[in-house]
Amino acid sequence: MRRRVTSGALEMLGCGPRMSRLLMAPTTKIVGPMSALENGTSERFRSTSSISSYSELARERSKTVTSFYNQSAIDASAEKASVRLTPATMLYAGKSPDGQHILSSAKYLHKELPVRIAHRIKGFRSLPFIIGCNPTILQVHELYIRAYHMLSDFPAIKDQETEARYSKLIQQLLDDHKDVVTMLAEGFRECRKHIQDEGLVRNFLDTTLTSRLGIRMLATHHLALHEENPDFVGIICRRLSPKKIIEKWVDFARRLCEHQYGNSPRVRINGHVAARFPFIPLPLDYILPELLKNAMRATMESHLDTPYNVPDVVVTIANNDTDFVIRISDRGGGIPHSILEKVMDYHFSTAEESAQNPRMSNLFNNITNSGNQSGPMHGFGFGLPTSRAYAEYLGGSLSLQSMQGIGTDVYLRLRHIDGKGESFRV
Ligand SMILES: Nc1ncnc2c1ncn2[C@@H]1O[C@H](COP(=O)(O)OP(=O)(O)O)[C@@H](O)[C@H]1O
Ligand SMILES: [Mg+2]
Repeated sequence: MRRRVTSGALEMLGCGPRMSRLLMAPTTKIVGPMSALENGTSERFRSTSSISSYSELARERSKTVTSFYNQSAIDASAEKASVRLTPATMLYAGKSPDGQHILSSAKYLHKELPVRIAHRIKGFRSLPFIIGCNPTILQVHELYIRAYHMLSDFPAIKDQETEARYSKLIQQLLDDHKDVVTMLAEGFRECRKHIQDEGLVRNFLDTTLTSRLGIRMLATHHLALHEENPDFVGIICRRLSPKKIIEKWVDFARRLCEHQYGNSPRVRINGHVAARFPFIPLPLDYILPELLKNAMRATMESHLDTPYNVPDVVVTIANNDTDFVIRISDRGGGIPHSILEKVMDYHFSTAEESAQNPRMSNLFNNITNSGNQSGPMHGFGFGLPTSRAYAEYLGGSLSLQSMQGIGTDVYLRLRHIDGKGESFRV
């Protein structure tokens, strides 16, 4: 109640609802965790789980709020160009026994992360007002502002002690930001009706999500440099086996599929199954499960009468000195002409339709009872657009060939990090 009255007063003072909400933030935050739970703000506490003490929290919030007025630091950082590294640079940066390579990596991040985050904050500020006001999107915007301040206020990294504290901060921010994709998916879905320009959503999400991937790769790389693993330099696997990583995600997708449909298609892997080369598994860990889930779902839903006798999914690996290609072929009936144009749009999904299909409804009821609308096999209609954005960010591509009536081939093409062609940059 107090919040509403005060926020109304702020609006009367001429602050827009967005500003008054931000101004209100310290008031809502300077309450103990118990009252936060009572007034339903537990969600927001969860996203700042790492902030331990009460006074720290208050300081945190007032910093965030001030920054909406005093934006000069963010503006200045947003003017700077980001310095993107090639994986080869990351791979051959050298490993010194005294840990000098870890210090240099931290110094690079210390400079680079505030710049990248400032660019994203600029992106949030450029959103149409009605979208920027959406509470979920605003919450992500605030997470970025908070991260910006925590990172740019961090003292210069001089020794192992500061580096260790810096790594702790990086880990904490990775945790705090782990739900950002889901939050953006939810936020944009909520304000879809206000958006006429589809291109605007696509541009914002493509840039925000790929930039986030880049930041997370750099941050995880830095943390992983501390670990001793002969097969890895940071997040770069020296001898990645595409077959092995595909198998890992096949197991995962089949388990989900069995849970949802009672059975799952088998997956055959052929082509260059013995190939091994240096690569970063992290983006594949996102893309492969999405593509495999789609192929399995299409297979199961196009064989509802014979769920225990479904055609295999076939994955073919092609490796050459410039790039490698992973083709996932299913016999799931293909993508109808009528929706082919839309499947790459953010939020486009046929998941709801199949939930309404009477033959599917029993299967779905089991999972939807948990409140999760369409189960984990398919979700927000983010699988294909995000996978394509990630592939393109890495200098590759994702394309579909649909043989309507038979099945779909998805081609994921990615450039080698040590190949003939120019490498991508993280
Ligand atoms: N292999 C496939 N076969 C048939 N339809 C597909 C296939 N992959 C994707 N689709 C269609 O594209 C839509 C969007 O896919 P995606 O972006 O992964 O979102 P979601 O899986 O959450 O629906 C799916 O809902 C489905 O209709
Ligand atoms: Mg999907």
